[in-house]
Amino acid sequence: MSAAAGTTQGATLRARKEEHQRLAATDAVQTRTPPGWGDIHLVHEALPEVDLDAVSLETELLGRTLRAPLVIAGMTGGHDGATAVNAALARAAERHGLAIGLGSQRAALVDPTLEPTYAVVREHAPSAFVIGNVGAAQLVEQGGKGPLTLAQLRRTVEMIDADALAIHLNVLEESVQPEGDRRARGVADAIAELVGTLGVPVIVKETGAGIARTTAERLAALGVGALDVGGLGGTSFALVERLRAQLQHDQRGIELGEDLAEWGIPTAVSLAGARTAGLPLIATGGIRSGLDAAKALALGATAVGVARPLLLAALDGDAALDAWIGRFLETLRTVLQLTGCTTAAQLRERPLVVGGETRAWIDDLGYGPLRPAPAASEPGR
Ligand SMILES: Cc1cc2nc3c(=O)[nH]c(=O)nc-3n(C[C@H](O)[C@H](O)[C@H](O)COP(=O)(O)O)c2cc1C
Repeated sequence: MSAAAGTTQGATLRARKEEHQRLAATDAVQTRTPPGWGDIHLVHEALPEVDLDAVSLETELLGRTLRAPLVIAGMTGGHDGATAVNAALARAAERHGLAIGLGSQRAALVDPTLEPTYAVVREHAPSAFVIGNVGAAQLVEQGGKGPLTLAQLRRTVEMIDADALAIHLNVLEESVQPEGDRRARGVADAIAELVGTLGVPVIVKETGAGIARTTAERLAALGVGALDVGGLGGTSFALVERLRAQLQHDQRGIELGEDLAEWGIPTAVSLAGARTAGLPLIATGGIRSGLDAAKALALGATAVGVARPLLLAALDGDAALDAWIGRFLETLRTVLQLTGCTTAAQLRERPLVVGGETRAWIDDLGYGPLRPAPAASEPGR
């Protein structure tokens, strides 16, 4: 790429990342379709024999111990306004012992002067589990733009001393985005080539449309370290890109964004499906409370990811982040006690009731049963 082309691409990426952060902070980007948590019920244990103080939220993820099963999902970087947000999120990750993801680092690969907008995360979270991020679309050639090289991918890891690299899948977003990268062929092979070459585990992460069971199993066979199912029911990138298409008077993007805003597999369904892949699962997409998190953990997630609510809190500062995370963890801890669990992993053994649309999805796709049939002598256990 010529220096001039690189500068133009850098400016485009910088503007896009700024727009993503600004537009995602508005209310118009939440799907109408729920993620499924409302259809899932945990069963109250009136005699839990567990003290609240004895509940531990500590969780192992990819060989590291988190103080709670919460990942601050990858969001931002690549523009000036991202630095303060990433710094606030990183400080929160460090204070609470959480994992933290970054937004796509492509902008810094194209324009290295943007590296500090990402590196600030490691500065403020020296001991946190930090997850780098690049798009799967950038692993293959796109209309004259070559795929990212191994050296560039290594740079994404070095830039932030990453503990893992997330490859995000976002075919829906790219299709709606006015300037989107529409080629998708060859991505699985590119992921397979990458796995094992970076010195850190690769997490494959959807961004709002979910991962079906067959796809989760294919990704496991490629050797990836973990999956973030990134399901439907939270922030919609079809809606974010529709807003961007409006700003650009791009009629095609406006119409596609409107028509496909509710496309995807709800997060709860995607989790139920991905259980068979045998990989650690992160459940992101419409996780809004510690109760949602408990349901996701009961469905097989190792941890949950939260993006937009933490962006909004970060824009309000450290105290707002502490308040949001504090409430979230207190609810999760209490639900563990109310279900007789001392650890989050024990939720996987607890009974579940699934109704509504989520039940229909799980039945029709053959993702059940979620629990062994209860023995006749032990109703509800
Ligand atoms: C402002 C913003 C920017 C995002 N940018 C990225 C990104 O660069 N890479 C990525 O993998 N996911 C990105 N995401 C997606 C989130 O990681 C997450 O999957 C999605 O927002 C759903 O979670 P939520 O419902 O809690 O917001 C972004 C989300 C937001 C809100």
